[in-house]
Amino acid sequence: MIRSVIRGSGSALPGRAVTNADLASKVDTSDEWIVERTGIRQRYIAGEGETTSTLATEAARKALEAAGIDSKDIDLIVLATATPDQTFPATATIVQNELGCNGGIAFDVAAVCSGFLYALGTADSMLRTGMAKRALVIGAETFSRILDWEDRTTCVLFGDGAGALVLEAQESAEDGPGVIDTKLHADGAHNQLLYVDGGPSTTGTVGKLRMKGREVFRHAVVNLADVLKETLASAGFEPGDIDWVVPHQANARILDATARKLGLPAEKVIVTVDRHANTSAASVPLAFDTGIRDGRIQKGDLVMFEAMGGGFTWGASLVRM
Ligand code: UT7
Repeated sequence: MIRSVIRGSGSALPGRAVTNADLASKVDTSDEWIVERTGIRQRYIAGEGETTSTLATEAARKALEAAGIDSKDIDLIVLATATPDQTFPATATIVQNELGCNGGIAFDVAAVCSGFLYALGTADSMLRTGMAKRALVIGAETFSRILDWEDRTTCVLFGDGAGALVLEAQESAEDGPGVIDTKLHADGAHNQLLYVDGGPSTTGTVGKLRMKGREVFRHAVVNLADVLKETLASAGFEPGDIDWVVPHQANARILDATARKLGLPAEKVIVTVDRHANTSAASVPLAFDTGIRDGRIQKGDLVMFEAMGGGFTWGASLVRM
């Protein structure tokens, strides 16, 4: 069968790290509150000249280098972001031009924190049906630019960054490498629990992020456990078969609760929320690249990606390395 095989990964972070103590000097918060409620200790914040496309391009270059693939051989770029450089053109086309692989398919996907799962599922379908041969799947964000820096309930939670995967359509055996299954969901009934209060067609402004965190938390734990079970069942695996869970990094307590619900030990969960905070669509590929580069995720491992975010949207993807 044809499968989308992960050939390489890369990631990029802005130059400036901002600690909880830095934020406590600006809004009414404390390192103790942030660590206890979220597990976050610091986040990276984009400075002048650092944008979603510059971070995405850097992550993509590193992924291509790790894959040993020339950018000219990429014929599909799917970039997940809720913070594009401009309303249009798609940030994916800016990245394509920077990489010099003009002429193939390039577009953005908007599914907020689940964006990377949506991008992965879309790219996988396109590779398996022969629309493209080699894809860059990127999650990249500069959420710092849509935060209300006076709102302590949101500004301490998010950070900027990018992560990228190179996928290649390859002939693979049933137990061979590649994306095995992806399950995606959305429920627009909850779009007022996590949203941006502006947009081109409503206010004509970019807007700021608003979130009812407690309610989002409650839905996240239930939806994630459900989609993980659904993905495992559809692919014919048990929770015990998973080598690594690479989750969206919103809150350490959500990661713990989800792992507990599946009966998975915490040691099998890749956690970067302490260093990166919530980087929305970038968080899953950033965490994956961390696990690859520190040698934890190995060839042959069964890896589960999962995420939940605004919309609501949520999803999971099971991949054999
Ligand atoms: O990425 C997309 C998905 N997003 C998520 O999954 C986020 C899900 N939600 C969460 O992670 C958590 O709900 C939060 C971290 C956002 C909040 O944690 P919580 O334990 O649910 O706190 P809470 O909202 O119930 O607030 C508890 C208290 C409140 O004070 P009162 O009303 O009890 O007096 C807040 O005003 O904590 C207060 N608070 C803060 N205190 C210090 C809220 N933010 C802060 C802060 N520093 N930064």
